[in-house]
Amino acid sequence: MNRDLKDVRENYQKAELVETEVADNPFVQFSNWFDDYKKLNKPDFNAMILGTVGEDGFPHTRVVLLKEIRNSEFVFFTNYNSDKGKHIDKNPRVSLLFFWPEREQQVRICGTAAKIPPQESTDYFHSRPIASQIGAITSPQSQIISSRAFLEEVFQENLKKFESLSNIPRPNNWGGFAIKPESFEFWQGRSSRLHDRIKYTKNNEGNWGSVRLAP
Ligand SMILES: Cc1cc2nc3c(=O)[nH]c(=O)nc-3n(C[C@H](O)[C@H](O)[C@H](O)COP(=O)(O)O)c2cc1C
Repeated sequence: MNRDLKDVRENYQKAELVETEVADNPFVQFSNWFDDYKKLNKPDFNAMILGTVGEDGFPHTRVVLLKEIRNSEFVFFTNYNSDKGKHIDKNPRVSLLFFWPEREQQVRICGTAAKIPPQESTDYFHSRPIASQIGAITSPQSQIISSRAFLEEVFQENLKKFESLSNIPRPNNWGGFAIKPESFEFWQGRSSRLHDRIKYTKNNEGNWGSVRLAP
């Protein structure tokens, strides 16, 4: 298969990222950009690409939804027995990536993931629509299954089993991970490919500092 996309190019010129205007704290900078992007009402504006490292040595990436930032940690929910869950068990170092093309912006985060307290997962689980709760119970996420029909059959069985319960029990293998960032990089597209990149890391005293990177 061949496909030639060499003629496709954007000229980025919507905004700039300058040292005098970025926030001292990367969480404030993230909030500023995130709130601005949220205003555009794009579907899945809270989507982020989670990168984990597998035992095969490959980085594995997939989209998950940011559900909360609390205690300066980024929270998403998943099946703990999924591939990503197993990767994190072995190696909690992960990456997050937000790409907001309408703003010509990208945010990269490296951090460490840990399971959130079970009660927080349970509270969120019960806040979801019943069909989503049963879907989570039904899906052996990342495992090979025989067919679509198998999945739908098990869903219907679970629906019958749990529908009448006022509180569907959260499976122990489903819950949240919280990612504690160790670095942030904010990228703003600029003209002539001279993009702005500001990277934040913590110094030895635990205070955030930032540097400019070449594009
Ligand atoms: C828009 C979008 C949102 C998603 N949100 C989640 C999510 O919050 N949690 C999740 O486990 N999977 C989510 N997924 C599915 C994942 O991308 C992935 O297919 C699944 O988690 C299995 O990944 P794994 O086998 O690498 O563990 C989402 C996919 C898309 C496209």
